[in-house]
This record gives sequence, C-alpha cells and structure tokens, in this order.
Amino acid sequence: MCGIFGLITNEQNLPVAQTIREGLERLEYRGYDSAGIALVHNGSIELRKKAGRIIDINKDGWFDSMQGEFGFGHTRWATHGKPVYNNAHPHVDCTGKIALVHNGIIENYQDLRKELSLRGHKFSSDTDTEVFPHLIEEFMGKGFDLKDSVISAVKMCKGAYGIVVCHADNPDYMVVARKESPLVIGIIPGKTTFCASDIPAFLPLTREAIVLDDNEVAILRPGKVEIYKIDSGEPKTFNQFQVNYTMDAAQKVLDGKNYKWFMHKELHEVPRKIRDQVGVPQADLDSFAKTIMDADHVFITAAGTAYYAALAGKYQITQFGGPYIQAILCSEFVDALPEMPPNSVVIAVSQSGETADTMEAIRYAKEKFGAKICSVVNVVGSSLTRYSDEVIITTAGLEIAVASQKAYCTQITALTMVALRIAELRGRLTENQVANYHQALLDSADSIEQMIIEEGKIKEIGLKIIQSENIYFLARGLSQSAAMEGALKLKEIAYIHTEAYAAGESKHGPIALIEDGFPVIFVAPPDQTYDRLIGNIMEMKSRGGLIISVVASFDERVTEISDYTIRVPIANTIEAIETSIVPFAFALQTMAYFIANEKGLDPDKPRNLAKSVTVK
Ligand code: M6R
Repeated sequence: MCGIFGLITNEQNLPVAQTIREGLERLEYRGYDSAGIALVHNGSIELRKKAGRIIDINKDGWFDSMQGEFGFGHTRWATHGKPVYNNAHPHVDCTGKIALVHNGIIENYQDLRKELSLRGHKFSSDTDTEVFPHLIEEFMGKGFDLKDSVISAVKMCKGAYGIVVCHADNPDYMVVARKESPLVIGIIPGKTTFCASDIPAFLPLTREAIVLDDNEVAILRPGKVEIYKIDSGEPKTFNQFQVNYTMDAAQKVLDGKNYKWFMHKELHEVPRKIRDQVGVPQADLDSFAKTIMDADHVFITAAGTAYYAALAGKYQITQFGGPYIQAILCSEFVDALPEMPPNSVVIAVSQSGETADTMEAIRYAKEKFGAKICSVVNVVGSSLTRYSDEVIITTAGLEIAVASQKAYCTQITALTMVALRIAELRGRLTENQVANYHQALLDSADSIEQMIIEEGKIKEIGLKIIQSENIYFLARGLSQSAAMEGALKLKEIAYIHTEAYAAGESKHGPIALIEDGFPVIFVAPPDQTYDRLIGNIMEMKSRGGLIISVVASFDERVTEISDYTIRVPIANTIEAIETSIVPFAFALQTMAYFIANEKGLDPDKPRNLAKSVTVK
C-alpha cells in the first residue's frame, strides 16, 4: 500500500510539484491518510507533508507552489505510527539532505533504530521507514555515493520495500530500489523519468515503461535509467515496453454518462467485462486447464474479495468434474501448509497482482516445494503475472474503486471458463454442452444489464436495512461466495457489521442473535441447495428474522416466505442456474453501493482501506 510518485526532468516548462501532486492523486486508492512531497531545490531539500487527503492538503496550491528541480511524493496507508504529520512521508536524515519515501514494511526496524540511536541519530517519527535515511546517511558519511549507500542500507533491512531517495547535493539524479513492493519506471527518452507504484500513475505523461524487479536498484536521470542488481552491484540490461491500455477507465464517465462515484460506474461496466472474459484466449485457457489436470494436488489462494471469487472457482472446477481443490487464505497459507505434497499446483487469484500475502504464499509454494503457479490476475505486468507459470488475465481493466467488484465478477467468469475447459478435456461435457454454458455466461451479462436498468428496485431493498447495525448473509454451496462478497461489501463501504455464514451452520450458534427484525439476507438460487436452504430460512423466520432473499426471477417458494426479495432475471435452465453466481453477487454489490451512497459515505475510498495491500 502507499503510493509513490516521483519525477526528474530537463524540460523547463514541466511544473514539477504540480505533476507530482497529480501523480499522487492517481495513486490515492493505495492509501490516503497523509501525503507529502520532497523536492531538491538549489542544493537543499524542500519538504511539505500533512495528514489528510491530497485535495484538502493542496487547497490554495500548498503542494503545487513548491519550488524544486526534481523529487517525489507519497500518499500513505499507515502501518507503523498513526496518520499524523511526523509519520507522513517523505522522511529525512539528521542532516536534512537526504529525503526518502517508502512503500512496504521493514521487519527489523526496531533493532536498526536502537543501533542508530545509540550512534547518535535522532528520530522524529514512529515509522519503520525512518531507519532508511539514517542508514543511507551513515554510508554516505563513509564516502559511498548515493546508489551504493542505498544498496548497503537495503541489505541491512529485512522485509519489503519500494523506495525513492534523493540527496540535496546530487542535483541530477535520484535512486529507487525495490523488494516485494511494486515500483515501476516511466520514461520520455532524453527528457523525463518517472517512478511510481503503478503504471496508470504516469500513463497521462508517457506510455514507455520499465519494470524494476525485486532486488534491483536504479539511478534515474532526466530521460535516462541505469539498473543494477542489489546482490552483486552488477549493471543489468533491461527492456523498455509500451503500455497499450488507455486512461479512459480513470474517468467517472461511461457511455457519455457522468457518475458520482467510480464504484457505480464500475458496476455498470460489469456486463461488458464478463463478455470480454468469455473470450479468454483459447491457448491461455488450454495450458491453464492442462496444468491443473496434470497436478496431483491443487490449492487455491487469494485475499478478500479475490478469495471469495477463488471459492466460487473452486466449487465450479470441482462441480464440473475437475479435481478437488483446497482453498486457503493467502495470509494463512504458510502456517496451514508446513509441508506441500509433490506435483502441486497453486491457483492464485488477484486483482492487483501485488497483494503481499498472495505473493508470499506463491513464493513459498514455488521456492520451497516446487509447486506450479497458475494465476488469474487483472493487472498486466504485475509481480504475480511475472512470477506465475500460467496466467489468465481478467478483463476488468483498470479498477479504481477500492471495493473490488468488476474484478470479482471477471475472476469468477475466468475460473468458470477453466472449469468448463477441464470438463471438456476430461470428456465430462461435449463441445456442444460447453457452448451452451458459454452462452449462459454471456446471458448472465444480459441479466446484469437488466438489473442495472432496474437498479432502483435494489436500492429500495437496501433502504430497508440502512439503519441496521448487524446483518447476516447466509447461503449454501457455491452461493456462499456471493454471500461472503455481499457481506464484505456492506462492511467495507457502508460500515455495517455483517457476517456471512454457511446457512446450514447458522443453527450451530449464530441463530442465538436472531430476534424480531434482525436482517438475514439469503442467497437463494434454484440449484441443488434450494430445498435445504428453505429449511434454514424458516429457522430464521420463526425467530423473528427479517428475511431478504436474492432469488431467480421465476422464484415462488422462497419469495413466499421472504419479507423482501431481490429478483435476478435468469432463464430457468440448468446452464443458466449453474452459472448464475455472478448476477446474484452483483445484486448484493449494487445494494451495498446504494446503502453507502445513501449514508453519504465515499464508496470509492472507504476508511482504513487501500486497494492494493502490499504489506503482510
Ligand atoms: O488485489 P487483490 O485482488 O489481490 O486484493 C485482495 C483484497 O485485498 C481485496 O479484494 C480487498 O478485499 C478489497 N477491499 C475488496 O473489495
């Protein structure tokens, strides 16, 4: 988490501070509790930072009016130390000549800090980051140049970092380094070099990009880059590539319509993104499916919403005749699996492709046990795509709202495509049957389009529970994914306490909380779980629960026993029912959006969250 944006240029008319501030604003989804900028100006460091959001901090052009030749900024998601001025980045050394921003966590910072303090260094923050400028100061004091001082400093640090450093006495370059935290470089050859936590941050300025790999350090000069290996200090040859996506997705406009929030706009993009996903390249699908089929053991891992998509994928692959898959949250992966069996495959699911927990899980599986990694990931060129043996790229495109929704919908669609391909390769489904399922997936996009037209109905149901403090989401089988996703969405953007449970499990404890009017939301598609779910609805209803059910448009029996229903327009066919998880979940994502909006909350930037969680 945290966003970093920096630039160094020889173009006289490029407003350095303003361009950095604008770059940081494009990265605010990574954290937004404080922000700061450091510039090198006439042999000294000009530094401004404050708690709060950039738009508020920059009122009256506080950032934009900074003077300097080059520099960088940071938008923070607090890990070590409260979101206050002292802990905001950039941080400086004792001389005030070295400034630095950091994304990641330094695990041994307490020891380093004690040692540095004993040697006389003064710390002004509670952050782990602040050890960096002081370590660099020491190495520069020993006569090392800035690059070699950075290399020596990072070698002393355990943990993850993407850092950018400048020194007031070095007027023509800055240094970046990375390990397990993203950092990319953009370049206008001969003129300007940018560094940022992700590519879209510099996309309005250049399409030429360079990816810095783990354990690498780079010297950035105007329009010129040198990369070195941290371990050996050897220079590295690298590729510059052209980014081929556009920034249209970064506008709150879709089909000529202006939106108040990215989340709303991105929900409306879901149908077209699903259709794109059904068109996943056959070659990618084949090698992904075959790698899974050739494995003796298959695991699936992810975090948050991506984990719920992974759970749906696990169900789909197994239900369509593929192997049994063990799902493990990526943050639990290492502890849950002290040993992994030979010939294992790990399927990793991620929007950003940078989630630290996900990366830790797959590195562990691959490096320690030789597991193959198959990933379903949205961001092209992310760490996960580069580390995987097989990749399916989801077609969600740039997702700006912190609460992920179009990524979830495309991840499930992608995994369902894999499930169908495995079924076909194993002879469980004929080519014609698979074609019918593909059509059903395309129809699910139509179903969502219909719900969008009538989204006012979903909002109306949302208003019934807007004042609730606690809500249960119950479902069985595959639909648990939708229940968990609905519960998480409402929790993270509308700040309502929710819990998702397997409906059958609810009588083993959660039912104790049910009293008159306690809202219980059931995800009730007409699949093989339907009859048993009705039993669970009755258990809640007879204790006074307010029953809200998400049902198929042709539903009768659950409708009869529910107080309110959200109706999902799907066909009454096996194919439509077995591929209806995305429209069912979409209904709940939409309801969460309307509740948050109605409460006057910002669904795009919920408190305490960041879109890309690059700390463990
Ligand atoms: O980038 P990833 O898909 O790996 O991110 C995983 C989770 O951090 C993410 O889904 C998170 O749960 C979102 N806030 C969900 O809306």
